[in-house]
Amino acid sequence: MAVDLERIGRASLKELGDIRIDDVLSFIDRGIENMPSYMDLYRRWEAQQWAVSDLDFSLDRQDWLESSELDRKATLWSHRLFFNGEERVTATLAPFVWAAPTPEIEIFLSTQMVDEARHTVFFERWWREVAGTDARNMTDLLIEIRPEANEGYNELFYDRLPATAQRLASNPNDFDAFVEGVTLYHIVIEATIALTGQRFELEAMREQGLTDRGFYRGFTAVARDESRHVNFGIKFLQEAVRKDPQRYAPIIQRTLVECLPLISGTLDPPDPRYITEYGHTQSEIVQYAFESLNKRLQAIGINLAA
Ligand SMILES: [Fe+2]
Ligand SMILES: [Fe+2]
Repeated sequence: MAVDLERIGRASLKELGDIRIDDVLSFIDRGIENMPSYMDLYRRWEAQQWAVSDLDFSLDRQDWLESSELDRKATLWSHRLFFNGEERVTATLAPFVWAAPTPEIEIFLSTQMVDEARHTVFFERWWREVAGTDARNMTDLLIEIRPEANEGYNELFYDRLPATAQRLASNPNDFDAFVEGVTLYHIVIEATIALTGQRFELEAMREQGLTDRGFYRGFTAVARDESRHVNFGIKFLQEAVRKDPQRYAPIIQRTLVECLPLISGTLDPPDPRYITEYGHTQSEIVQYAFESLNKRLQAIGINLAA
């Protein structure tokens, strides 16, 4: 069945409840066949605005009160990673804007920064209205929800990502650092880890008939934002590899090889039932992540086999 991309591209929050995550993600593959320009991605952003304050979490709250202990634990595990992760990527994007090699890239990345802030606010609101918290402000809430010891996650979000942002802040003309940063931020964190987690959580909600919930609609809107970010990353790296494959392909490959073990570590829950209880297996999820990664790499024009 042909996917109605025009409809998905313009869908309101309410209409996003009728849309499957896989169809939203097909924007990325269409982007691979027919690469949009940076300004096309900017215009898509203008057309795809949404507001956290338009969502209604009252049914989500009701579900929460009736949910099992295991359901709650599984949801909190996933949402801790997302909430904290969205805040981390908001905090570290500004140096990318400063280091942007062209005004078009600078403009696109500025839209992305607003998106990441909105995603953080989305999770903050979910936490206050659905899971519940006594935290007085976002600082306290972020301390409360910080994911428990997860080596892959900590290395990505508390070590590699801030270090890359710092390199760009210290030297905005360092194009090699920009290539490495986009590989880490847009390809590893967004295209491989975040979209995989989103896909499995939204599909589980769809299977349970929960597509009219505020979380489903909002998280689908988040995924649509992410599809623009990932399109940007693919386009930028594809251009770099075409311009100078000898120089840039090895930077991308090295970054990926270093991050690969962190990907499966991040997606690995402390209790396997957080995945198996919902009809999936850990290896299925990791396999989906690596298949997505491979598709993106093909579009960029490199492979990891070597
Ligand atoms: Fe995000
Ligand atoms: Fe993003």
